[in-house]
Amino acid sequence: MLSIQNLSVKYGKNAVPAVQGIHLEMKQGEIVSIVGESGSGKTTLLRAIMGCLPGSGYVAGGNIRFGDQSLADLSPEEWRNLRGTELSMIFQDSGAMLNPVRRIGSQYVEYICMHQRQEKKKAWKQATEMLEKMHLTDADRVMRSYPFQLSGGMRQRVGIAMAMTFQPRLLLADEPTSSLDVTTQSQIVAQMLELREKYGTGILLVTHNLGTAVCMADRIIVMHDGHFADAGTREEILNGPVSDYTRKLLESVPAMGGERFV
Ligand SMILES: Nc1ncnc2c1ncn2[C@@H]1O[C@H](COP(=O)(O)OP(=O)(O)OP(=O)(O)O)[C@@H](O)[C@H]1O
Ligand SMILES: [Mg+2]
Repeated sequence: MLSIQNLSVKYGKNAVPAVQGIHLEMKQGEIVSIVGESGSGKTTLLRAIMGCLPGSGYVAGGNIRFGDQSLADLSPEEWRNLRGTELSMIFQDSGAMLNPVRRIGSQYVEYICMHQRQEKKKAWKQATEMLEKMHLTDADRVMRSYPFQLSGGMRQRVGIAMAMTFQPRLLLADEPTSSLDVTTQSQIVAQMLELREKYGTGILLVTHNLGTAVCMADRIIVMHDGHFADAGTREEILNGPVSDYTRKLLESVPAMGGERFV
């Protein structure tokens, strides 16, 4: 479904690559988790796949295929058709992606109608149902609110709901739950797993939390300094990491009663 060959990304022509030598193959319905320290290139990799590198960022080498399409060759029109429906992304700070001067409801309805011929009333209902799935209990009030009237965690859940609306084939999730309390976190994780169960959505999940990675993912990738330091099934990563960096990362997970939790 997703195939990345020797990808490198730079911010500015003369800069050192922010990510380099990336190879990744993902099958339909697979959940792959990326862990790694701040600045290691996780967001850069996801944004490169999504075709939305910020500022002077550009793909300096390699190639990304999604299904039978090479993403570098897509026209703006083809990108519009792909984004949101087949390929969608939950940003590290989804709340900041919302337009601050428009109510959630009007943005969400517009987003739905952009991708699907649909009456506004039906789109409103669909949006409200998605918000309820994200455990926003007072979904109607959320729909009528401006982003600044919601808490950061509520805005994040609006972003997550929007990204999941069309049951994409691939969901890119950049630390989707780090701003949420643990109860909400586990509900959102359950929601993502359900998306995979019901619709075969593949998920590429960036997380700081090795525990989340271990409980959700089929495979784990450890990023360090712009490249993959380790990659393998969770058993391989836990039992026999190749790189010293991964070993240190595992050692840093707190132990309780002499037993490690991941
Ligand atoms: N808009 C930008 N302009 C220039 N350099 C950038 C930009 N965004 C990221 N970088 C650089 O790219 C490298 C990787 O950053 P990236 O945001 O991908 O890291 P990350 O692994 O997502 O970190 P975090 O865990 O803190 O989110 C860093 O050295 C960073 O300084
Ligand atoms: Mg990041």
